[in-house]
Amino acid sequence: MEVIDTVAQMVRWRDRWKKAGRGIGVVPTMGYLHAGHLSLVARARTENEIVVATIFVNPLQFGPTEDFSRYPRNFERDAAVLEKAGVDLIFAPTPAEMYPAGFDAAIEISGVTEGLEGAVRPGHFRGVATVVAKLFNITGAERAYFGQKDAQQVAVIQKLVRDLNFPTQIVVVPTVREPDGLALSSRNVYLSEAERAAAPVLYRALNAAHQLWEDQPTHCTGPALRQTMLDVLADEPLAQADYVSAADPATLREYETDVPVGQGVLLSLAVRFDHTRLIDNLLVTIQPGIVTARRVLSGGSA
Ligand code: PAJ
Repeated sequence: MEVIDTVAQMVRWRDRWKKAGRGIGVVPTMGYLHAGHLSLVARARTENEIVVATIFVNPLQFGPTEDFSRYPRNFERDAAVLEKAGVDLIFAPTPAEMYPAGFDAAIEISGVTEGLEGAVRPGHFRGVATVVAKLFNITGAERAYFGQKDAQQVAVIQKLVRDLNFPTQIVVVPTVREPDGLALSSRNVYLSEAERAAAPVLYRALNAAHQLWEDQPTHCTGPALRQTMLDVLADEPLAQADYVSAADPATLREYETDVPVGQGVLLSLAVRFDHTRLIDNLLVTIQPGIVTARRVLSGGSA
């Protein structure tokens, strides 16, 4: 496994692989890797001849009061687990390498960036879109792997690729969870013991809304789904809801009345435990009534 830290080295490797006709998959990360990141790497390993993992805590996507300097880092451990996972190359540039003096560009995507995380973290998705566009260009990857855990980030990157004609194919990988339902996140290390014990409330709230959706297939409303999540969160005194959302999965616009029949819903939420902020989501794509109809049909034909 190669470990490099300059754009020039990355470009040399990229061009060598391209010349040899070898397909490249990239897994962008900010390091401090856990099993969620490694599921992206494992998927990339099965679909690409060459797998590049990037480790870069991107200062552009952190607000002035956010945790950039205290974001957890452990390069040695990350490199060891990536090598074991069969990664071919780690690209781990410094901020000065990615944003040298005179760097002035930014990629601004409107619409999907406006609600949810975008509303609470101004500039965050500008930073994400800008760094991801640079990583796509620098690595030359044909495929790039992202986690469903960050659903809005996925929507932003899909817009980036579509609107600006990047040739990169986006592969979305399901959220990896602890046995009690807590989604794996590098930020989970900030939780105290009591907060860690309370944190599965995010997944419980999402599941309660999912259950409502299953129980009321034809007249489930956005406000009812959001209220269901708020009710579950209210029972956990350590949890402070930042937002709850039941939105159109493509546009991320909130459903204000009935969820249109045949359309999916992205259930998502952000919750604070003291200074630690956790996000999670469930993408519910098939309306229960339609699932039932399919079951009846396939039952009939069997
Ligand atoms: P980071 O938070 O390190 O996450 C890297 C990738 O791992 C993202 O695509 C994220 O969605 C995915 N991931 C995180 N937790 C996961 C889980 N429990 N299950 C499945 N996938 C999970 O997201 C970023 O970094 C940055 O914004 C980045 C895209 C690298 C741009 O800087």
